[in-house]
Amino acid sequence: MNRAKIIATGYYLPSRILTNEDLEKIVDTTDEWITTRTGIKERHIAENDESSSDMGIKAGSMALEKAGLEPEDIDAVICATITPDHFFPSTACLIQKGLNLKNSFAFDVSAACSGFIYALHIAEAILLQDRVKTVLVIAAEKMSSITDWKDRATCVLFGDGAGAAILQKKKGDRGILSSFLGSDGNFGDLLIVPAGGSRTPVTEEIVRGGQHFLHMKGNEVFKVAVQKMVNSALNSLGRAGLEAKDVKLLIPHQANLRIIKAVAKRLKLRDEQVFINVDKVGNMSAATIALGLAEAEEKKIIKSGDIVNLVSFGAGFTWAGMVLRW
Ligand code: UT7
Repeated sequence: MNRAKIIATGYYLPSRILTNEDLEKIVDTTDEWITTRTGIKERHIAENDESSSDMGIKAGSMALEKAGLEPEDIDAVICATITPDHFFPSTACLIQKGLNLKNSFAFDVSAACSGFIYALHIAEAILLQDRVKTVLVIAAEKMSSITDWKDRATCVLFGDGAGAAILQKKKGDRGILSSFLGSDGNFGDLLIVPAGGSRTPVTEEIVRGGQHFLHMKGNEVFKVAVQKMVNSALNSLGRAGLEAKDVKLLIPHQANLRIIKAVAKRLKLRDEQVFINVDKVGNMSAATIALGLAEAEEKKIIKSGDIVNLVSFGAGFTWAGMVLRW
């Protein structure tokens, strides 16, 4: 049987680190509040002139090198991002240019924090149904570019970075085993960048009111996040004929340590079954799970044949679960 298999991963984190102590000097907050409410201690922040595509290019370049592939081997590029360099051209096209991927088509996916799993799902469909042999999936986010640095309720939560995965069609039982994707636009207003698009173009007044920044009703998002992530994990595992106890590693979206712990508890997972890096990188939206997967591979937390469960939740609302046999 043919499966879409991840043959290499890559990642990039900007070198600049913003700690909770640094944030104490910017807004009315404390390390104690951020740590107990979110589990975040620090996050990486891109340079002013460093964009999502710049970070995606670095993550993609690492994946290409690890796969031992040449740029011309890539047939398609899918970039998950909610912080594109521009409305258009797509960030995927900019990454294609940056990596000199002459033989590929390229497009973006907008599914917020679920974007990486959505993009892997699309990559699988393209690989299994088309002549495409190799797909590069990138998730790249410069969350700092849509952050209101005067809003303590949101500015402490997010970080910048990128992750990448290269997929190929392979015979055998390793690769993507199942996916479970969902959305509910009724919750759109709870986590949104209100202005800057065609609904409310940017004006001086909009900018003065900070409507071009990310806005979130955090505690309302929290409640749905736990429920949908548990549901996505169980449904994706069920579709693969597996249970939570079969999972070597759950890589959940890293928005908040309390959410991750609540999800793990409901799934009855042991600590060593759950990947956590939110303390070091904060919430990087779509790039979070891409980085988690690359880190888990690099640190050899996952090995050939292990069952890996990716689970996400984000703006839209969108949610997703995916089961891989590594
Ligand atoms: O990535 C996509 C999905 N996103 C998520 O899943 C995020 C989900 N939400 C969360 O993680 C949490 O709701 C937050 C971490 C965002 C907030 O935690 P919370 O326990 O829900 O706090 P809250 O928003 O209910 O605020 C509690 C209090 C408020 O003060 P009062 O009204 O009780 O006096 C806030 O003003 O904490 C205050 N507060 C802060 N205090 C110090 C909010 N932000 C801060 C801050 N420092 N940075």
